[in-house]
Amino acid sequence: MIELHDIRKIYQLGEEEVRALDGVSLTIQDREYVAVIGASGSGKSTLMNIIGCLDTADEGSYMIDGQEVSDLTEKEQSILRNRKIGFIFQQFNLLPKLTAYENVELPLIYQGVPGAERKKRVLEALEKVSLANRLHHRPNQLSGGQQQRVAVARALVTRPTLILADEPTGNLDSHSTNDIMNLLRELHSQGNTLVLITHDNEIAAQAPRRVRLLDGKVVSDSGNVLVYDGKGGGQA
Ligand SMILES: Nc1ncnc2c1ncn2[C@@H]1O[C@H](COP(=O)(O)OP(=O)(O)OP(=O)(O)O)[C@@H](O)[C@H]1O
Ligand SMILES: [Mg+2]
Repeated sequence: MIELHDIRKIYQLGEEEVRALDGVSLTIQDREYVAVIGASGSGKSTLMNIIGCLDTADEGSYMIDGQEVSDLTEKEQSILRNRKIGFIFQQFNLLPKLTAYENVELPLIYQGVPGAERKKRVLEALEKVSLANRLHHRPNQLSGGQQQRVAVARALVTRPTLILADEPTGNLDSHSTNDIMNLLRELHSQGNTLVLITHDNEIAAQAPRRVRLLDGKVVSDSGNVLVYDGKGGGQA
């Protein structure tokens, strides 16, 4: 479970103070699918970076599974990030010199997963995103949609419980957008918590719960909590 209480993140740029997050309180249960919506500059990525332990808040409390994140050392936070969280970004963030296979393998190398197990999991992940026929292509030899599918495979290969996707379809055409949204829906239905950041209302409408940010504040929360029951029941 994710519990944010009165989170603030303030940037000081010379004279100007930007309240990127201005008192955000939000609870996300395990296995929820939440879309965070809001205009450019409303604080969405700042919020995702804090949830993903890529950045820390200036004020407020952030707990993951009952553990106050700011009480953890940087090393402990990075372990938590590597074990529990999968990231998908708008710009894919693949390493250009590595093949699809190698990009997906990298987080497993960081985790110290042995070679044979790595191979099995990388192939599984790339098969899942329908890229078993593109293993040895480098990012610049793949389409945008394919690159994002590699990034999805990289996010899921570590078997994270929390998936954070920041505008994952922002650079994709409508066909690839559908592919990625279907993959995300599938990951959610397998029991993962999914936080999807988007400025696109149509994309957000696919999520059972929608939280809207404006100027660093939560201005609406559909609160439509639909927790997957683990029994293969249907999703709305
Ligand atoms: N490192 C930084 N230094 C100063 N200001 C920042 C920094 N990062 C973000 N901001 C400011 O904080 C506010 C929130 O930024 P954030 O990136 O969270 O917005 P966003 O909702 O993700 O926008 P977009 O939809 O354009 O990605 C913006 O006004 C931005 O200019
Ligand atoms: Mg952003």
